[in-house]
Amino acid sequence: MKTELRSVVEILPETRLILRLDTDLPIEDGVILDNSRLKKSIKTIEFLLKNNCKIAIIGHRGRPTDKDENLSLKTVYLELVSLLEENYIEVESVFVENFEDNEKIDLALAANQIVFMENLRFWRGEEENDPTFLKALMEVTQYFVNDAFGVAHRRQASITLHKLMPAFYGLSFLDEVRKIEEVLENPKHPIMVILGGAKTDKLTYLPGLLKIADQVLVGGKLPALIQDSLQPPFDIEKEKLVVADLKENGLDINEESIHKFKEIIERGGTIIWSGAMGNFEVEENQRGTSEIALAVASSDAYKIIAGGDTRASLIKLGVLERINFVCSGGGALLELLTKRSLAAWE
Ligand code: 3PG
Repeated sequence: MKTELRSVVEILPETRLILRLDTDLPIEDGVILDNSRLKKSIKTIEFLLKNNCKIAIIGHRGRPTDKDENLSLKTVYLELVSLLEENYIEVESVFVENFEDNEKIDLALAANQIVFMENLRFWRGEEENDPTFLKALMEVTQYFVNDAFGVAHRRQASITLHKLMPAFYGLSFLDEVRKIEEVLENPKHPIMVILGGAKTDKLTYLPGLLKIADQVLVGGKLPALIQDSLQPPFDIEKEKLVVADLKENGLDINEESIHKFKEIIERGGTIIWSGAMGNFEVEENQRGTSEIALAVASSDAYKIIAGGDTRASLIKLGVLERINFVCSGGGALLELLTKRSLAAWE
């Protein structure tokens, strides 16, 4: 691995720490649709508990502009409690709603309880990268451990805590960075990147992706916006960038594009796929994503995927295990691929 990050295994036992997790899970009507982002951090939590460390967990969910009960982390907290039980990890825990409540946090840590804090993004300081609201928490802890690769590209208060406290990186975080860097160091060409989904900020990675990839295929919500974002001086090598045509309703890629994408995917030596080809939540718009999922899964290429719907489509078809590396964050993956660095350690 090129980037030298201090592993959590080097942390001193019996210490108090803040643990940043990927808590942004898809939740519908109170039901968690996919808990894999939490599951991946169980081994880090287990390691810390074995070393008698006292843990205060922080994380975010969604993009709230203010306190919003629908985006509370309580459901995620309860899910973590059951995951720990399933893994025979016995520990008491407490959910803390207020970052100023240092007395409650302090007492809980002293009593060996895991502290799970409310959604960081209920405080403006998080997205404004102003850690003042984390001061009370920092006062009762000694170290910072980041195991949230999915959000490692965001320059936000809970991601840049390594600048204010001695920092370590979790086992899952290190594993993801290592796997992506391996692909960057020694990729099998041709590299095909498939970009989709609804997060339109992904388009900012397009110039960088065109530099590392042999072809970039674009679907999802992005084709409609692409003309505006690719103004000169951005220079497109036409054959490198393949933008899907959409169905009449604009909510999925059309048959011709499915066909074209499949032909290109078949030739790939490395395939990197982040984001659904259409509005995957509605059955009638799932065809593009499902067809691409099957094509990706059937390919002999080294295959990396990221993103909730991307993963869900492969699970639905029963082919997720054919993917070599399932990355926990699309944005972080694209940032590391194109900029070779992340806010989480810069
Ligand atoms: C994600 O879901 O990709 C991460 O949690 C980052 O979320 P964000 O795009 O809202 O920063």
